[in-house]
Amino acid sequence: MRRFGTQGRVYPDKHYVVARAEETADFIDRIKDGRYIVLFAPRQTGKTTFFRLALEALALQDSTYFPIQLNFEEYEDYDPTRFYASLRKEICKEIERVFQKREMHPSDGLAHFLVNTEITDHVSMREFFETFAKHLSQNRHWQRVVLTIDEFDAIPRAALKGFLRSLRYIYLSDQIRCPHSVGIVGVKGIAQLNYDRSISPFNIQDEFHLPSFTLEQVQELIGQYTDEVGQAFAPEVIASIHKQTAGQPVLVNRFAQILTEEMDIPKTETITMAHWTTAHAQLLEESNVNITHLTTNVRKDPRFESLLMRIMARDEGVAFNLDDDIINELATYGVIKKGVDDMCEILNPIYLYRIMRAFKPAVNGLEQEYFPEDIGKPPIPG
Ligand SMILES: Nc1ncnc2c1ncn2[C@@H]1O[C@H](COP(=O)(O)OP(=O)(O)OP(=O)(O)O)[C@@H](O)[C@H]1O
Ligand SMILES: [Mg+2]
Repeated sequence: MRRFGTQGRVYPDKHYVVARAEETADFIDRIKDGRYIVLFAPRQTGKTTFFRLALEALALQDSTYFPIQLNFEEYEDYDPTRFYASLRKEICKEIERVFQKREMHPSDGLAHFLVNTEITDHVSMREFFETFAKHLSQNRHWQRVVLTIDEFDAIPRAALKGFLRSLRYIYLSDQIRCPHSVGIVGVKGIAQLNYDRSISPFNIQDEFHLPSFTLEQVQELIGQYTDEVGQAFAPEVIASIHKQTAGQPVLVNRFAQILTEEMDIPKTETITMAHWTTAHAQLLEESNVNITHLTTNVRKDPRFESLLMRIMARDEGVAFNLDDDIINELATYGVIKKGVDDMCEILNPIYLYRIMRAFKPAVNGLEQEYFPEDIGKPPIPG
């Protein structure tokens, strides 16, 4: 039996998974088109799940793409020399993995090249890719390299500029481009990584937006469970899950997990609003990774508190302006979003409640205003 996953990437054979078919088709089209794509979104919004599934879908459609999948998570404190040395090893490992998976062998020339070629900086990285492309072109099966880099924002700061410059050089070159397409995935955008505010050399980027789940996608997710287990959710339960989470992927799954695995509701019973209220109260109280990220982030800078107070006070509101560093940072962390009338809004009602609790002394009384008599009134925080 599959489950609702809340820890890291989800896999369709183990978890219920929203297909995100439209976004996947768009992403694949951009890869085929040779774009250099950046996908920056807050933690736990489904980035890794999404691009990995998209690459698997691409491989099924067309096996001539040669995928190289990297993850920069560990490199933050590396100096550029160690970074490029490790990068070479990881790229070679990936190349070998792809050959093995397809039960093929690299030519002698390619095998020799992989063993004997160093990467010491961004220029030798570009040269590495150029030579790799030449070797690859001798094998008519492979045509285009697709490079994806997860957790890109952990790239050593001292290596960032050169790395991006070389990618730009490759992108703009008139030879066969290797990599043909690049996907960069992370939490902070390139502009935010360039702390010196110099203009990013990566002005060829193609930004990809990964939206929260729509109501239909939450229905799709829970529908998979109902089809497998036979237990129905009342439609208003699904609508309320969507409303309280605003489609935040991990919170949607966490809600469903509490209802289906932790509350001991007999599988023969339909899940109703009474159950929902209990699950909701738990979600408002418990600590989970997502909520811990939220509360840690909002406490990072004392200026966040006053801005969040102004947003929550509702009287005048705060215009959503990404040129404002504080607004920009809170949006990057996925705490706020652009709401109606282009004003700042807290991402979802669950976050709103948890933020109020985090700053409780300053907001006494606001709970009443935010949780009127309608659905699932939470307990007043004590
Ligand atoms: N397609 C999906 N279907 C169902 N749930 C999903 C999907 N994508 C993401 N999720 C939910 O979001 C959680 C995080 O997914 P994932 O690790 O892919 O996100 P991420 O943005 O890469 O996170 P991080 O920033 O921590 O690396 C999953 O554990 C799951 O609860
Ligand atoms: Mg990830």
